[in-house]
Amino acid sequence: MHEINIIEGDKAAIYASLLPQIKSLLDGETDETANMANVAAALKEAFGFFWVGFYVVRKNTAGVEELVLGPFQGTVACTRIAFGRGVCGTAWKRAETVIVEDVEKFPGHIACSSKSRSEIVVPLFSSCGHVKAVLDIDSTEVQSFDEIDKLGLESVVALL
Ligand code: SME
Repeated sequence: MHEINIIEGDKAAIYASLLPQIKSLLDGETDETANMANVAAALKEAFGFFWVGFYVVRKNTAGVEELVLGPFQGTVACTRIAFGRGVCGTAWKRAETVIVEDVEKFPGHIACSSKSRSEIVVPLFSSCGHVKAVLDIDSTEVQSFDEIDKLGLESVVALL
């Protein structure tokens, strides 16, 4: 049985300690839903984020790809997001991490919760280089996310 050991320290130190623990948590498990669920739980436990979860690229009934809510920790959330919409759809379209310091200043931000004030969205890539999902993390404070989170979370999703 795995347990996440939370160390004291700044967030760079927490990412450094968390990364090998997540690696070991995922070791030997190939199911992506199970792995995303455990990564969401580990990040929530280590940092206490307000909302942490995944949106996965899926075709809808019309055959159009969109983001569909996947494993998450937090309050109920919107289930589908179109390409280029909101912070998640923007990270998917740009195929890069998007940091929003203040959601009120991001045109098109999708407010799943009025408590969310800042956000980071990190894409996950398939082996052929396409975005297959995004990791979305929300905070109730403005300016919660920076380059340390970007680097830490990009290293985490590279394990998936
Ligand atoms: N705020 C996101 C939508 C997802 S929720 O925050 C969980 C966005 O603008 O894409």
